[in-house]
Amino acid sequence: MVIIRTDFSLKRFNTFGIDVKANRFADIFRESDIIEIRKQTASNEQILFLGSGSNILFTKNFNGVVIKNSIKGIEEKEFGEDEIIISAGGGTEWNDLVNYAASKNYWGIENLALIPGTVGAAPIQNIGAYGAELKDVFHSLEGYNFDSGEKIVFTKDECEFKYRWSIFKGELRNKFLIAKVNFVLNKKPSPNLTYGALRGELNRVSISELTPLLISETVSKIRRNKLPDPAKIGNAGSFFKNPKVKNEKFAELQNQFHNIPKFEFEQGGVKIPAAWLIEKCGFKGKRIGNVGTHKNQPLVIINFGETSGRRIQEFSVLVQKAVYEKFNILLDHEVNIY
Ligand code: EPU
Repeated sequence: MVIIRTDFSLKRFNTFGIDVKANRFADIFRESDIIEIRKQTASNEQILFLGSGSNILFTKNFNGVVIKNSIKGIEEKEFGEDEIIISAGGGTEWNDLVNYAASKNYWGIENLALIPGTVGAAPIQNIGAYGAELKDVFHSLEGYNFDSGEKIVFTKDECEFKYRWSIFKGELRNKFLIAKVNFVLNKKPSPNLTYGALRGELNRVSISELTPLLISETVSKIRRNKLPDPAKIGNAGSFFKNPKVKNEKFAELQNQFHNIPKFEFEQGGVKIPAAWLIEKCGFKGKRIGNVGTHKNQPLVIINFGETSGRRIQEFSVLVQKAVYEKFNILLDHEVNIY
């Protein structure tokens, strides 16, 4: 039976630690709970599906029903000689899945170690870090369309993955609950050391000594050194996406800012690290009241105390304005704002 709580504080359910309330809140643990909560939701009621709340900023009370996905579990299915399919419940902690794969010596998600959030949230924004992206190992997912009640399987193409984006962030936003995700992992060694900082940490280790466990531990160490732990200090990882610009625009910027960095981007353009743009605007480690950017990574906005979501949003607009005025680039937020 699904227990529905009313006028429920979401403070423990978002890593910014914002104290807002939801009209109704339900935690679901199995697929049958999805059908049940759907029956108890009016067609005009606003819905928000929540994982571990690590990529969300609440700026006001939520006038609707928050459905927290706690459907957990990891299963293996044989696939081919060199590959294996792993299925995980949408409510499984992402890092538990990374640890599971590393313990079994399966390759593919070790670079994505320690990313906060759940397995069900991972495809929504096609999580990525240290040269890897979820879409590289994605096989399919299963879930429920909340409008029709229908159970649907999505293949990789149907998810329309892009940089920090998928169909579940677009037309299916809060319409589709991801119950299970299937990944194809590799049993054969396939280390991905394309990311400079990771290669640097491992340059004394020979290729044959690399394991998914060693890589995931190294990535975790880099992240711990650089990024604030959401369990200790309120934040939601990168607040903004790295902006993409056309080659011509980048050339113009380069004339003015000679050392502007870039990542190559597939479709005729480049991505510029938002952290660099923000730092150049004097916002690295800048704090206003109880809101500020992290001292090592200004892409991360921090709640230093009992601040409100609105204050964080206002601070983020200041960052956007500063970057826009200096570089004529509008930063898009990665965090979902409600
Ligand atoms: N940089 C600065 N100043 C800084 C920090 C970074 O100028 O203080 C510049 C440097 O040029 C550096 C570049 O930014 O080379 C990239 O920095 P970093 O390696 O920290 O990565 P990022 O592009 O800022 C992205 C993801 C992170 C992910 C890292 C590592 C996005 C929006 N963010 O950040 O993901 O951990 O790469 O792969 O793509 C998240 O999504 O929440 C997240 C933390």
